[in-house]
Amino acid sequence: MCVPAAFYRLLPVSIYLVFALCGSCSRDERPAEEPDRALRATYRQPTSGADDKWRAAYHFTPPEQWMNDPNGLVYHDGEYHLFYQHYPDSNVWGPMHWGHAVSTDLLDWQHLPVALAPDSLGYIFSGCAVMDYGNTSGFGSEDRPAMVAIFTHHDETARAGGVVGHQSQSIAYSTDRGRSWTKYGGNPVIPNPTPPRADFRDPKVIWNERTDSWLMVLAAKDRVVFYESADLKTWSKLSEWGSGQGAHGGIWECPDLFPLRENTSGETYWVLLSSLNAGGPNGGSATQYFIGEFSDGRFTLNESFARRLAEEGPQWIDYGRDNYAGVTWSDVPKEDGRRLFVGWMSNWTYAQQVPTETWRNAMTVPRALQLQRTEKGPILTSLPVRELTEHRRPGVELADRRIEGSLTVFEDERGQELAASEIVIEIDLGKSDAAQIRLVLKNEAGDELKLGYNRRANTYFTDRRSAGRQAFSDSFATGVHTAPRIGTGERLSLRVLLDRNSVELFADGGTTVMTDIYFIDSPWTTAIIETTGGAAALTKSTVFPLG
Ligand code: FRU
Repeated sequence: MCVPAAFYRLLPVSIYLVFALCGSCSRDERPAEEPDRALRATYRQPTSGADDKWRAAYHFTPPEQWMNDPNGLVYHDGEYHLFYQHYPDSNVWGPMHWGHAVSTDLLDWQHLPVALAPDSLGYIFSGCAVMDYGNTSGFGSEDRPAMVAIFTHHDETARAGGVVGHQSQSIAYSTDRGRSWTKYGGNPVIPNPTPPRADFRDPKVIWNERTDSWLMVLAAKDRVVFYESADLKTWSKLSEWGSGQGAHGGIWECPDLFPLRENTSGETYWVLLSSLNAGGPNGGSATQYFIGEFSDGRFTLNESFARRLAEEGPQWIDYGRDNYAGVTWSDVPKEDGRRLFVGWMSNWTYAQQVPTETWRNAMTVPRALQLQRTEKGPILTSLPVRELTEHRRPGVELADRRIEGSLTVFEDERGQELAASEIVIEIDLGKSDAAQIRLVLKNEAGDELKLGYNRRANTYFTDRRSAGRQAFSDSFATGVHTAPRIGTGERLSLRVLLDRNSVELFADGGTTVMTDIYFIDSPWTTAIIETTGGAAALTKSTVFPLG
C-alpha cells in the first residue's frame, strides 16, 4: 500500500486500540473452536438518504459502512457467496471482518450477518473459501460438506509494536451453507515464516486435480508463494515466483491461480492474477495477470506471454482506476464451467474519501474470464456475466449512420433510464477516418463523462474530469485514463455499463476493459456519440435500460 493509503488506513486503528484498552470493544477472545456468536446478527436494511443517488442498482454494495476486497467467493447449493473486507463500525478501513451476502444470479444479493470477526490472533484479512466435498479436513461429513474459509490473521497490535511477522494464515469452517462459522483450534495453519515477512497474506486455494491436493497461492510483498496441503490444515511450501516479473513499484496483494481452457484450441493454461498497490497503469491500485504453466510445484511463464511482457509491458485485467483485489469463484459447477471474477470497484488512493457517508464502495459487475487466442499467444478477456443480459429492457437502436460531429443516441428526459443501462456500439473503422470517436454522457448540471477511442495512438480512454464531484481527493480526477486497444480488426465494439456512479467499458469482446467510478448529483439525461478530426461509420448502437 502506498504511503498516503497506509496513513489513512491506519487512522481508525488508533481509535480501535483506544477502545480495546478500555475493554469496551468487540475484540473477541473466545476459545477458537467456538462459533462466532458475538457477531452482529442482523443488518439494518440498506440505508436511504443523501447517498441513495450513488447506490448502485445492480452492483453489490455493503448495507452500511466500509467495504474493500471481495473474499471467500464460493458457489454451493445454488448460491454464490460473496464475503468481503468489512468494518461494520465505520465508513473507513479498520479492524477487518468478513461481511457476507448470497445470490442465485450474481446480481441480486441478499445480505447476511457478518461471518468472521477479529479475534485474539488479529483482524480477518482477505482470503478465499472452498467446498471440501471430499471431507479432507474432517470438518464436515459426506452429507454436510464443510465450506472452509482460508484467510489471513493480521495482528495489528504486533504490527504497531514493530513486530515484522504479524500476518499468518488461518482457517474457519461452516457446515450450514456459510450461515455460521467456527474457527479452527489449530490456527494459524501457516505461521509467519522465519525469517519473518512483513507482507504475507491473502491466500487463495484451489483443488488441484493433477495432484489431488489443495494448492494455495499467497502474496508476499513483491512475489507470490505456493503451498500444498492434503487436508487444508497442514501446508508445505512449494516455491515462490514473481520477483522482477511484470509490474512492481508497490505491494503484490490478493493473488489467484487457476487453470483455464483457451476458447479455440481447447488447450489449458494456468492464469495467475496479482493485484498491485500502487503501480497501476493509470495510478494507484490495479490487477495484472500472467499466463503460464503450473507443474512440479512451480509456476513458469508461457513463452509467448513472456515475449508479450517484454515487448508490451505488464498486462492488466482492467486498465481503469477502479477494479482492485479481484479474484474468482471457487466450485462453480462443471456443467457451467465459467471462471467468474469480481473486483473491488475502488482504488486505495481515494477509497476512504469518496463522498458516500453511510456506506462506502461497491464491487465491479461479476465477469466471466476467458482465454482468447491471438497471433501473439493467449490473452485474458473479461465480459459481464450473461445473467446481466436477462435484465435488458427493450433497447433503443440506431443503425448505419455516418457521424461527423455528434449524434444523440439516447434521450432520457426524466433521468431514469440511463442511470442503470447498457450501451452497445459498433463502429466500422475501415469506413471511418475520425481521429477520436467517443461516447459522451451528459446531465442537466452540465457534467460530462467521456470514453472512447483514439485512432492515432490506438488507445481507449475514459475521462471523468468533468463528471461530478472531485474535491474530496486530489488524486481522483488527475487525468484521462488510457488503455491499449488489444483487439485487432476493423470492427470496433464497445459495451458500456452504467450504474449510478460507475462506468465499465468492455471493448472488442472484453480484450480491453476499463472501470471507473464518479459522483454526479443529477442523473445522465443524454448519450451522444461524437467524433473529432473526421467521421465515424456507426454500424449499430443500442441503449438498453437495465431493469
Ligand atoms: C488489499 C488488501 C489485502 C488485505 C486487505 C486488508 O486491498 O490490502 O492485501 O488482506 O486489503 O483489508
